[in-house]
Amino acid sequence: MSAITVEGSQQFTGRLRVPGDKSISHRALMIAALAHRPSAIRGLSDGEDVAHTRRAVEALGAQVEVHSAENVTVTGGLIGASGPIYLGNSGTGIRLLAGLTAGLDFTTTLDGDTSIRRRPMDRIIEPLSAMGASVRGSGDSGSLAPLIVEGRPLKGIEYTLPVASAQVKSAVLLAALQAEGPTTVHEPALTRAHTEEMLADAGVRVEQQGRSTTVWPGEVEAFDIDVPGDPSQAAFWLVGACVAPESDLTVENVYLGPARGGFVDVLGRMGADISVDSESGDIRARTSELRATRVTSHELPGCIDEVPILAVAAAVADGVTVFEGIAELRVKESDRVAAIVEMLDVLGAKSEIDGEVLAVAGVGRLGGGTVDSHGDHRMAMAAAIAGAAGSSSMTVEGFKAVATSYPGFARDLSYSTGWTP
Ligand code: S3P
Repeated sequence: MSAITVEGSQQFTGRLRVPGDKSISHRALMIAALAHRPSAIRGLSDGEDVAHTRRAVEALGAQVEVHSAENVTVTGGLIGASGPIYLGNSGTGIRLLAGLTAGLDFTTTLDGDTSIRRRPMDRIIEPLSAMGASVRGSGDSGSLAPLIVEGRPLKGIEYTLPVASAQVKSAVLLAALQAEGPTTVHEPALTRAHTEEMLADAGVRVEQQGRSTTVWPGEVEAFDIDVPGDPSQAAFWLVGACVAPESDLTVENVYLGPARGGFVDVLGRMGADISVDSESGDIRARTSELRATRVTSHELPGCIDEVPILAVAAAVADGVTVFEGIAELRVKESDRVAAIVEMLDVLGAKSEIDGEVLAVAGVGRLGGGTVDSHGDHRMAMAAAIAGAAGSSSMTVEGFKAVATSYPGFARDLSYSTGWTP
């Protein structure tokens, strides 16, 4: 389905489960691939990105028993791949695997689609090189995919991230497992902590102090994990319920750990009727009168992937919502700053960019038209939700990009609104 047209004026109701968290899924597969005994992973994301990582660890030598798209058993033991590894659209896949393989005794070539080949890899090449790794990129600058990672003996480093990036932090911490001596990463703002949480669960020595994380080299033990629902996917439905008429929707079993729930705080400040059950991980949202807010650069990493759908909330809100520190959005699966501005224009909301600040003036009721996803799954889903909640119909071109992280998105849109494709 490369384009869909969603009818407007839908209501979002009922209870929904979203795919397993994508970030946790990637890490579970990679960390399990280092352990010599079997790890059971249940509730994996069924998106293409995670399927690429599953095939990657298999190509590197791990045994993966696939019980279903969501349930696998991984037995580690990496010996190297016989050819290049293709990670599709996945920045997390390529960057974390570069770190994971940097200290292993073989050469790995990592590649991806045209979007991946445009995204900056110098951010991992630099700290991994400081550890003694050999990571060669392509392009004039040598900082683009494909990457050739020649396994080398590594040494622990102390590294301050120039940008708040969980992918960079994680690449360094995964490399740290093979290094001599401990490695410490300092981050300018808190980012998702899945790598350090899961390494600690797998028996690795990890210490966390404020925005600094230290990992000691060591063996990884097998583990079992039930991957919770992905908050970034939940955000689409919850914003939909806030901005659509007569809506009341609950997303069940959502991950509620650090640096992922920022969108709930932002929506709360906007006056959303949203509540979190911290026992079950269920999040409920109802139709709300939204008002503008300011999202600071400090809190942006905690809702970095939710900016496209928060921009939809901002387009409805009363007043001018400001997102600060948006530079990182330019180097995501698409240039999301440009894509968001384009989408807002179709929705009828005025937006302005001043340096690293995006300002969105809300218009109350959303208009429709045609939005191009630019091959970006989150733009496709944000536009589809805006269309369903808005007053007229919305065509989303490049809708098939949703398969990157949420192949069942159109089905769940039908389920929660009653709309049929
Ligand atoms: C991710 C980290 C974020 C996020 C991406 C997933 C991860 O990227 O945008 O979708 O799994 O670590 P950055 O860490 O580069 O900001």
